[in-house]
Amino acid sequence: MYKAYFGLSQNPFNLSPDPEFLYRSPQHEEALANLIYGVRSRKGFIALSGEVGTGKTTMLECLRDYLDTQRVEFAFIFNSRLTPDQFFEMMAYDFDLQCDRKSKTSILFALNALLVQQAERGRTSVLIVDEAHNLEWDVLEEIRLLGNLENRGGKLLQIILAGQPELDRKLDAPNLRQLKQRIVLRCSLNPLTPSETVGYIETRLARSGMVNQRVFPPEVLEEIHKRSRGIPRLINLICDNLLVTCFAMELRGASLEMLEEVSQDLRLEWPGNRDRRGRSRYGPVDEQLPEESLPLGRD
Ligand SMILES: Nc1ncnc2c1ncn2[C@@H]1O[C@H](COP(=O)(O)OP(=O)(O)OP(=O)(O)O)[C@@H](O)[C@H]1O
Ligand SMILES: [Mg+2]
Repeated sequence: MYKAYFGLSQNPFNLSPDPEFLYRSPQHEEALANLIYGVRSRKGFIALSGEVGTGKTTMLECLRDYLDTQRVEFAFIFNSRLTPDQFFEMMAYDFDLQCDRKSKTSILFALNALLVQQAERGRTSVLIVDEAHNLEWDVLEEIRLLGNLENRGGKLLQIILAGQPELDRKLDAPNLRQLKQRIVLRCSLNPLTPSETVGYIETRLARSGMVNQRVFPPEVLEEIHKRSRGIPRLINLICDNLLVTCFAMELRGASLEMLEEVSQDLRLEWPGNRDRRGRSRYGPVDEQLPEESLPLGRD
């Protein structure tokens, strides 16, 4: 809506996990490097965890791009509310296994053949499961068993489990300790620091055609960080709404008053503001934590 008004080539604050807009914060950089290292060194299981909206799926999309360039076979399962049968069927579709996709036995035979064939070509294969915190125990157990497939060179299937922090808690459960022991690499994503929030916003605007952004003055950037708690998805929502407001008011820059209005529209809650309104639509501030210990970042 406001693209032409600001001379932008595309919407800078889209909510899709698009690697084209990747902001390489040190922790996102490290998480991606770990995922790639884990796959390349055939480590077996890798876990990626992070709060809602911190960039897990975006990291997986970046990994997917990397795997494409390396011509590595992979399956990407993004719907994790599955029965074991549905899980096998989805995996068979995504690996494009030519077998009876309703039969677990045929799927396992075909998968094994694919993994061995890839290994003979010096390549590995990867299973990526997003939203893994939702997986049922019996599906997690099947995934653990898939991790047993190996030859002398290492694991034949690299398995990446990505999910919200409940995933870590789930993996701590006594009945999953066998799976937990197999996770050789763990990475986590935290909210952005104040300076990263600024870099993040600048990067997304620059990618859309506005180098040296002029829309958000420093005091607004500071407040955006505070109100978003450094969570990329919330930063996107706030910035998008601010750009719409600027456009509607025919103004070139965002102000604190606009931010106040946008925060009310989005029913945002942030540390120091919790007494002023009811529950937020976008994640309540954790009432258990004192303000100072909220994960605002490292700055
Ligand atoms: N490093 C980053 N660079 C650019 N954009 C990012 C980055 N991290 C997150 N985002 C953006 O933030 C939004 C949320 O990211 P994403 O969907 O990857 O989060 P998530 O951790 O998978 O969330 P959920 O827990 O809800 O699945 C997306 O619009 C994404 O483009
Ligand atoms: Mg996600």
